[in-house]
Amino acid sequence: MEKYIIHGGKPLHGTVDISGAKNAAVAIIPAAIMVRGVCRLENLPQISDTDTLLHILRYMGAQGRLLSGTTVEIDCTNVHMDHLPEEMWAMTRRIRASYYLIGAMLGRFGAANTTMPGGCNFGVRPIDQHIKGLTALGAEMKVGGGFITASTKTGRLRGATIYLDKISVGATINIIIAAATAEGRTVIENVAREPHIVDLANFLNSMGADVRGAGTDVIKIRGVKELHGGTYALIPDQIEAGTYMTAVAAAGGAVRITNVIPKHLDCISSKLREMNVDIEEGDDYVLVRREGPLRCANIKTKPYPGFPTDMQPQITTVLSLAEGASMVTEDVYDGNRFKYIAELKKMGANIHVEDRVAIIEGTANLTGAVVKACDLRAGAAMVIAGLSAEGVTQIEDVQFIERGYQNIVGKLQALGADIRCVDEPDEPEPLRTTWIAG
Ligand code: EPU
Repeated sequence: MEKYIIHGGKPLHGTVDISGAKNAAVAIIPAAIMVRGVCRLENLPQISDTDTLLHILRYMGAQGRLLSGTTVEIDCTNVHMDHLPEEMWAMTRRIRASYYLIGAMLGRFGAANTTMPGGCNFGVRPIDQHIKGLTALGAEMKVGGGFITASTKTGRLRGATIYLDKISVGATINIIIAAATAEGRTVIENVAREPHIVDLANFLNSMGADVRGAGTDVIKIRGVKELHGGTYALIPDQIEAGTYMTAVAAAGGAVRITNVIPKHLDCISSKLREMNVDIEEGDDYVLVRREGPLRCANIKTKPYPGFPTDMQPQITTVLSLAEGASMVTEDVYDGNRFKYIAELKKMGANIHVEDRVAIIEGTANLTGAVVKACDLRAGAAMVIAGLSAEGVTQIEDVQFIERGYQNIVGKLQALGADIRCVDEPDEPEPLRTTWIAG
């Protein structure tokens, strides 16, 4: 198994370039199933979740070509959903975004079949709003034996008005994808407004769909008969950028974070400023500088434009180094997104968790320890803790981190961090390579 070894206590300096947005990529790749023709995706992040999805599309009959590390051409003209192999189900069970196959298959074939999704374990992660929305569009949904199947009487969904009882990124995206080729008009109310939802809508529109209102809380879709090929460049990853911003806040130094949309980072920037981190914004970069002591702050996670739950472990780690007492409230997930705190405590953090609230008494220093990445963002938090800590930190289960961060070790090394990955990876060859070769 791979591990990261970090000799902490070195401030970060230099420039880091942010990759394409993971949560846009994991929606757009399945949505490509709807496209009859060649779809060229640019600025795709090189992470294991996108590799897994590209592999899944190949099992469904998609043809693919890698034009560069981050540009891929996908031709879904001949995709099908017949006799899909067990190896594909092993992949769909591994990742959360496999639930977008339901919307995409329904939109393309009028029927769907996939496993229940996997992904980071934050306790119960229901999909009732996905099912409610797709049912309203005329799908008959069945869940059983670890699978989700869906069918339609006429082979095509029909538009409907849907109100989401809970703001859900996944349900919003799944319904948009399915409705793009439904008959008539769909209105989705109380939707999520994350930047990757706008990105998915822009992708579909550039392939001939008619999706309006993405980024507001009502989305209106006029169904089209089919989608055509085209080229689309994904937005930069808001959470990857935020993670490097918090890394600088914790370790100190000055780093220019490029290929970002500063507007998407507003909430993270304003919290960091409150904590005595200096942030300068340019058109497509932020310059983050931290020299003085960190100040405490209170944070509550909320759907966009609120403070992202996917930044909660990283900011909590920074607050564990701030002067005074801070409070972080997890308001997006009902389940347990504080499991990583047990790991942070091994490094000397002083944090008490009560239900959805973490109360953090800042400490001057963290100290290196052997810790594990409980999930993707929790793993990023361990990296941040290790960079700021005195001594050596060893992080286990880093495969979770590599699901969502492109070349995190190389990017941090370029900023002067003493971090290395030891041991050979389990997979002899990245999936992306075999996907192209096959
Ligand atoms: N929820 C329901 N019913 C549903 C769907 C969601 O009750 O049908 C609840 C969830 O349990 C949660 C809340 O609604 O309490 C929000 O969940 P949401 O559906 O928005 O999350 P998701 O679609 O499962 C995506 C990202 C997550 C990110 C969340 C919130 C993907 C593949 N995953 O998950 O990303 O935390 O939105 O922004 O896009 C990550 O990148 O580390 C990650 C976990």
